[in-house]
Amino acid sequence: MERTLVIIKPGTLQRGLAGEIISRFEKRGLKLVAMKMKQLDQKILDVHYAHLKEKPFFPWLCDGMMAAPVILCCWEGFEAVKVVREMAGATNARKAVPGTIRGDYSMSAQENIVHTSDSLENAAIELDRFFTPEDYCDYPSPLNSYLYAPDEK
Ligand code: TYD
Repeated sequence: MERTLVIIKPGTLQRGLAGEIISRFEKRGLKLVAMKMKQLDQKILDVHYAHLKEKPFFPWLCDGMMAAPVILCCWEGFEAVKVVREMAGATNARKAVPGTIRGDYSMSAQENIVHTSDSLENAAIELDRFFTPEDYCDYPSPLNSYLYAPDEK
C-alpha cells in the first residue's frame, strides 16, 4: 500500500469545504492514517515549495498558505499517490476537468483547494516533513475485501 500527503489549503478551510474534500477521499476508498491541523510558517513553506522560490507568485502562494491553518492528511491505498493526484486535477483549476476536486471547487491556479504529493519519492519526503512516526494510526480495515481484489493488497 502506498501513502501520500494531502494538504487541505487554508482557503478550503475558510470556505467551509474541508469536510467535503476529506469525504471525497474517504468515498473513493482511501484510508486516513494520519491527520492534523497546523498553522504553517514561512520556514516550512520555503522548504515545501523550494521548487517555486524564484516564481513571481511565490510570495502570494506563501501568504495564501499562511492565511489560516491547513489540515494535513495522510491517505493510504493501492497506488494512492497517482490516484490522489488525479483526483486533485490540474494545478490551474480553470483547466482542471470537472469531476476532479479542483475542477469542481475552484477557479484559481493558487487557491486550488489541496496540495497532493506528485510522486512516491516526494510523498515520503513530504510526509516526513509534517508527520512523526507516532502520528500514524494503525487500525483494522474490515471493508478491504470489498475495496480490493486479493492481489491488490
Ligand atoms: P505546483 O507544485 O507546480 O503544483 P501542484 O500543487 O499541482 O503540485 O505548484 C504548487 C502551488 O503553487 C500550486 O498548488 C498553486 C501555486 N501556483 C500558483 O499560484 N500559480 C502557478 O502558476 C503555479 C504553477 C502554481
